[in-house]
Amino acid sequence: MGMKVLVVGGGGREHALVWKIAQSPLVKRVYCAPGNAGIASLAECLPIAAEDLSGITTFAREKKIDLVVIGPENPLVAGLADQLREKGIPVFGPSMAAAALEGSKAFMKDILTRYNIPTAKHQVFRNIEDARNHLRYHGAPVVVKASGLAAGKGAIVCQSLDEAEEALDRIMVKREFGMAGDLVVLEDFLQGEEASFIALVDGENILPLAGSQDHKAIYDGDQGPNTGGMGAYSPAPVLTPDIHKQVMNRIMHPVVKAMAKEGRPYRGVLYAGLMIHNGEAKTLEFNTRFGDPETQPILMRMTSDLVPLLMACANGSLAKATVTWDPRPSLCVVMSAGGYPGSYAKGAVISGLEEAARLPDVQVFHAGTRLDEGKVVTAGGRVLGVTALGSDVADAQQKAYAAVDCIQWQDAYCRRDIAYRAIARVSH
Ligand code: AMP
Ligand code: GLY
Repeated sequence: MGMKVLVVGGGGREHALVWKIAQSPLVKRVYCAPGNAGIASLAECLPIAAEDLSGITTFAREKKIDLVVIGPENPLVAGLADQLREKGIPVFGPSMAAAALEGSKAFMKDILTRYNIPTAKHQVFRNIEDARNHLRYHGAPVVVKASGLAAGKGAIVCQSLDEAEEALDRIMVKREFGMAGDLVVLEDFLQGEEASFIALVDGENILPLAGSQDHKAIYDGDQGPNTGGMGAYSPAPVLTPDIHKQVMNRIMHPVVKAMAKEGRPYRGVLYAGLMIHNGEAKTLEFNTRFGDPETQPILMRMTSDLVPLLMACANGSLAKATVTWDPRPSLCVVMSAGGYPGSYAKGAVISGLEEAARLPDVQVFHAGTRLDEGKVVTAGGRVLGVTALGSDVADAQQKAYAAVDCIQWQDAYCRRDIAYRAIARVSH
């Protein structure tokens, strides 16, 4: 009697989740809605979009799915976990009310401020004139954010007042992020080094996963506009044991308690995006799901079974759970379509995937790919997450790029410096 698990989503994160879940001895069958060309070799991909809440709920009921794992933020914010729970289907993921921590930066900042959880000072505006006036008074640098969901692209770091006014224009006048820009958050610019603190939460108990660091900007040296994430590695040396303790005591426990107190108990992944400076961690954002691409290197290092941990979150029994890790670092390089995070072409044939997959300690996770007459073609901005384990982070980097160099398509792009901070630390 093995379990039937349905994973919702079709990106690199979901490929890593399906890859890990399919290895569980508890699992008999994995489905994915909608999946991608890589996921198709491990799970049955369904022609159901991740945003099709009723399609997913109906399928889960009819197939008597034992656990639904929700990957992306959009269905969470739209209430997929609530719909599934109402039908008695076990689900890993927060309710709509709890997912507001990611779905509304205005809500998140309000909770953090009211419960004294370290974060940048901010103001929320609905009216553009008020926002402009505040900007002139505040000055630069400043960070201008669409409050709602914007696929990681809605936070604009501005070094000058001109840039800030233009960012405000993009969000509130041109409405580049649609309704996500109804409210705008203006916040102080924080200096420091970022890290991703990702934990499992069952409403009360918190089980932190291995730390990681993402690379949000499109170009080497963290230049250019923000993307969903161009590469990540784990562990992140910046998350020292001291910082880890501080984050648990000042950020994670307080926010989980706050959410329970607000009548929005938090169950699922809680991902704190941190800025660390002079031994202090502040919260940049919360995500209510696994990070993408952080999940790819994190799950490559997880040696324990993920499925009992997800079940423990779903049924509130995380207090007794433990997790074990491969001590070797891992590193993921995202290969994207030329032009991303702006407009880009789709449909290019990808070559070299088998050759890359044959390299030791390498996994090529698919993101925006699909099968077209038996060939794997590009179908999104972030296309692949080429991930490797190494004896140290430099070795993991060398192995990941060796695999990247096997793979080609028209206009493929990747950053060449993933993990440069960790490597600089080791060599100094
Ligand atoms: P967010 O979507 O709020 O996480 O922002 C995306 C990215 O923008 C972060 O990962 C940071 O690189 C940058 N960022 C956001 N807020 C700030 C801030 N207050 N100070 C400096 N950088 C920020
Ligand atoms: N990698 C950043 C995110 O998942 O939001």
